[in-house]
Amino acid sequence: MGLASPNAALVVPVARGHRPLTGHGRQLNSDALTFMRHLRAYGPMVRISVGPRPVYVVNSPELIREVLATQARGFDKGAMFDTLRGPLGDGLTTSAADFHRRQRRLIQPGFHHERIERYTDIMSERSAVRAAAWRPGTVLDLVPEINRLTMDILLRTLFAADPGPELHAAVKDWLSVKYRSMKLALSPLQAWAERIPLLPRWRPPDGGPLDRLRAAQQRIIDDYRADGDDRGDLLSMLLLADGPDGSMTDAQVADELITLFLSGTGTISAAMAYAAHEVSRRPEVQTRLQDEVDTVLGERPPGFKDLRSLPYTRQILTETLRLYPVSWLSMRRTIQPLTLGGAQLPAGTDVFFSPYALHRDAELYEDPDRFAPERWTGGAPRPARGTYLPFGAGNRLCVGEEFAWAELTIALACFASRWQWAPAPGQPVRTLVGTVIRPDRVLVTLTPRRAGRP
Ligand code: HEM
Repeated sequence: MGLASPNAALVVPVARGHRPLTGHGRQLNSDALTFMRHLRAYGPMVRISVGPRPVYVVNSPELIREVLATQARGFDKGAMFDTLRGPLGDGLTTSAADFHRRQRRLIQPGFHHERIERYTDIMSERSAVRAAAWRPGTVLDLVPEINRLTMDILLRTLFAADPGPELHAAVKDWLSVKYRSMKLALSPLQAWAERIPLLPRWRPPDGGPLDRLRAAQQRIIDDYRADGDDRGDLLSMLLLADGPDGSMTDAQVADELITLFLSGTGTISAAMAYAAHEVSRRPEVQTRLQDEVDTVLGERPPGFKDLRSLPYTRQILTETLRLYPVSWLSMRRTIQPLTLGGAQLPAGTDVFFSPYALHRDAELYEDPDRFAPERWTGGAPRPARGTYLPFGAGNRLCVGEEFAWAELTIALACFASRWQWAPAPGQPVRTLVGTVIRPDRVLVTLTPRRAGRP
């Protein structure tokens, strides 16, 4: 500990374990989650490096708030998002500054309360169909099941009518390409390649799947434009959205669709899979969940109006996203010189923070590694300001947050009303670390809860 940053007015400690060429690359690539947790011991801010690139890691809720909200205009999104721009285009996740503000204003209405109400019917119906396909007594890996469900829900929310096999195939193809954005953002080799022009740099894989996805989307956009109707789905919202700076071009709509495919599926799948995993291991939690679901729903499927009447279901999900905030590492890069926590950061400085490490800090949460839904008893969760950030904060707060809570609550309630599930013997669940954290598999055995159903 203790080397001073050359540019800092304040001495920012440098984390131990720095190596000459790789910086802290070894720790970041071998066990980034544990490394991020260790960094909290250095105080509000600590310096690490990815190869030659210095990175300031902010730990305190106050400084995280400065980055995400108070000084947000001094940052863009940085390392990981530079590599995502190739495969995602200029959608909400990757866009910056005024263009981002404009797009956000246009897209936000698609996620308003009244629209979510319509989407919950789809969420409920599709969760019931998925759960009805399971067979009693079998060992099932819930991970692929949940992946199918979240994609099914998103496609039906985006497109009121089935978009057809061409789009299904194109999305599947495109999602199977590995863009490795987080790996590259943490790669010393990539950081050196950015500095030394002669070194080979990572290039996005061949554009084939992306081009095919864009072409399939364009055909659907053409159909929608031809009649100009509002079909009640997200695509209609994107096409009809209008603001002081006009509406979106087809290419912009296409980029936003691609962004939603990526942001609206893997994140929810991971959260749902972790929730199912934790519930499977805790019979007392599962029984309380079933009691709540039976009392509120009886035999009927969950809907929008039930969301507020399922507080324990919500507590389970809140606790799941505390212990497993799927966006485990957030990144920003300064676009102008600024002072953060007393340290002077030049333009182009990388700043990271880890919701995973924040949510597992023993000073903020008692017994932080324990899954304990009861810590959220008493209605809406009210953690101390800035200590619970699974959806980020400030101007880049997840636009799909309400959508995500609705889908997670409805799917979990639907599964619990039909099935009891217990862990199947086998390998322990492993966490895979990429752009999101996710379980490698969740093997369970299933028992139906009601005779004659599901
Ligand atoms: C459990 C589920 C989800 C989690 C944990 C999650 C988490 C996040 C986080 C942390 C951010 C901010 C990233 C940053 O500040 O760098 C974000 C942004 C975003 N999310 Fe989500 N998300 C989830 C579900 C969704 C869904 C369902 C959608 C859409 C259907 C969505 C769309 C987006 C978009 C478009 C952004 C970029 C917003 C902007 O920059 O203005 N997310 N999400």
